Amino acid sequence: MVGSNILTLALLVPAAVSSAIHPGAHRRQSGLDGFVKSESSISLQGILNNIGANGSAVSGASAGVVVASPSKTNPDYFYSWTRDAALTLKVLIDQFIAGDSSLETVIQQYISTQAKLQAVSNPSGDLSNGAGLGEPKFETNVTAFTGDWGRPQRDGPALRATALIAYGNHLLSSGKQSVVKSNIWPIVQNDLNYVAQYWNQTGFDLWEEVQGSSFFTIAAQHRALVEGTAFAKSLGESCDGCDSQAPQVLCFLQDFWNGTTVISNLANNGRSGLDVNSILSSIQTFDPSATCDDSTFQPCSARALLAHKAVVDSFRSIYKVNSGKEAGKAVAIGRYPEDTYQGGNPWYLATLAAAEQLYDALYQWKKQGSLAITQTSLPFFQDLDSTARVGNYTSSSSTYSSLTGAVQTYADGFFSVVQQYTPSNGSLAEQFTRDDGTAISARDLTWSYAAFLTASDRRSGTVPASWGASGANQVPTQCQGSSATGSYSTPTVGSW
Ligand SMILES: *[C@@H]1O[C@H](CO)[C@@H](O)[C@H](O)[C@H]1NC(C)=O
Ligand SMILES: *[C@@H]1O[C@H](CO)[C@@H](O)[C@H](O)[C@H]1NC(C)=O
Ligand SMILES: *[C@@H]1O[C@H](CO)[C@@H](O)[C@H](O)[C@H]1NC(C)=O
Ligand SMILES: *[C@@H]1O[C@H](CO)[C@@H](O)[C@H](O)[C@H]1NC(C)=O
Ligand SMILES: *[C@@H]1O[C@H](CO)[C@@H](O)[C@H](O)[C@H]1NC(C)=O
Ligand SMILES: *[C@@H]1O[C@H](CO)[C@@H](O)[C@H](O)[C@H]1NC(C)=O
Repeated sequence: MVGSNILTLALLVPAAVSSAIHPGAHRRQSGLDGFVKSESSISLQGILNNIGANGSAVSGASAGVVVASPSKTNPDYFYSWTRDAALTLKVLIDQFIAGDSSLETVIQQYISTQAKLQAVSNPSGDLSNGAGLGEPKFETNVTAFTGDWGRPQRDGPALRATALIAYGNHLLSSGKQSVVKSNIWPIVQNDLNYVAQYWNQTGFDLWEEVQGSSFFTIAAQHRALVEGTAFAKSLGESCDGCDSQAPQVLCFLQDFWNGTTVISNLANNGRSGLDVNSILSSIQTFDPSATCDDSTFQPCSARALLAHKAVVDSFRSIYKVNSGKEAGKAVAIGRYPEDTYQGGNPWYLATLAAAEQLYDALYQWKKQGSLAITQTSLPFFQDLDSTARVGNYTSSSSTYSSLTGAVQTYADGFFSVVQQYTPSNGSLAEQFTRDDGTAISARDLTWSYAAFLTASDRRSGTVPASWGASGANQVPTQCQGSSATGSYSTPTVGSW
């Protein structure tokens, strides 16, 4: 397999964050609110700088191509990963829906480019049986990358479907059904059919190192199939594979819970299983309308909170930058404790994800008007407040106020760690070193910037649309390996 040194995914570093944006010194200087505000502007510009054809940091990339990082050597991330691109576009689409109309052109160019990419034959296969959709990365001129790699990676089609459905639903709400049917549905249909057909086969995880079954992949696939069913229906179409496979994907998702935490990869890889994979899954499948369901690992669920604790705690003693910070204090987070890539360091996007899950949970408790502590989640809460006890606290109670206040402080603490280790020009690389927090690895990582934006939106209580988690949380009594064979056709995007 591809050595882990070659493969980390894609995040980025600095080169060319526009100097027009707040170049002020952040490091330990401004308050957190001010930092979050200025770094959010830098992050949005940092993303746009990395998208062709106009992105200032990625000259040569085709229109609508999201480059992982401008870095071309040590590491070379000058490629477009389906996963990173889809996660990034979901952010841009949510910002567009929230009112930034300037983003629509780049969103449409991304979609036109995905229509072309789906039809590009590549080492994972081609479109005739869908197998080519599992290819993890492409050249920035919309051609196949033919070198060795950890392939296929089966999260990409699911994440892309989720991004496109968000934009599609927005267009539907403005009455543009025919353009959704012609420009978006054909791409989404291929991706949904891929998920329904291949979810029960192994592939490489989001860090491109482990061949097996990845919690993140399965969680993202379940979400895509569930919202795919509703999206199809609203277009007068159908997704039979979505309907038949979604409950079985949810059933399999339960296998990753070992009774006390999430084992992120079901594979023979000699690791503990603790991985920020599980936190990224929880924020990917966050549904603002859901309650704290364990089966879908909602951010406020007992399972997801206990897994958050286990992952965060696994980094306390191994990074020098975390020294002296005992349980309950926010720390720098990496991918997984056994990581050695580029020295095995904290990542910006991982630390931001740890904050984001907690903001999501706070949103859910507020919406429900109560916070329940169970035997499962008790250790998470006791780290923050040693007097915490099992119980159900309504929002009018003082216990609710003190517990949610403690969670808010804890969440902000992860942002403060990011603030501390962000260079004064605001550039976000992939990682910062475990010993002294100096930025390292790919500069201006697109995903780092995307992670900053989602975490800051959740911090301010801005949330995306529901994907229907509450109607899709019933686990079948018997799990079955299965597959729905789909059909695939070359999509074309006409005028908008
Ligand atoms: C921002 O600062 C980092 C770290 O000092 C540096 O590597 C990077 O080149 C700078 N970026 C720009 C655009 O000046
Ligand atoms: C890129 O620049 C060209 C030429 O100025 C413009 O027509 C196009 O809309 C720009 N693309 C985006 C995504 O803004
Ligand atoms: C696309 O980019 C790759 C990598 O730089 C290059 O080898 C290939 O010739 C390019 N193809 C086209 C059609 O421009
Ligand atoms: C679950 O996995 C964690 C992490 O590897 C381990 O510490 C724990 O003992 C496991 N729990 C059970 C019940 O096997
Ligand atoms: C907690 O109490 C609220 C209000 O009485 C109720 O709606 C909710 O279902 C309870 N939650 C749990 C987990 O018991
Ligand atoms: C396929 O699904 C079955 C039933 O959930 C599960 O036991 C098995 O591990 C799955 N295999 C893969 C590769 O997804």
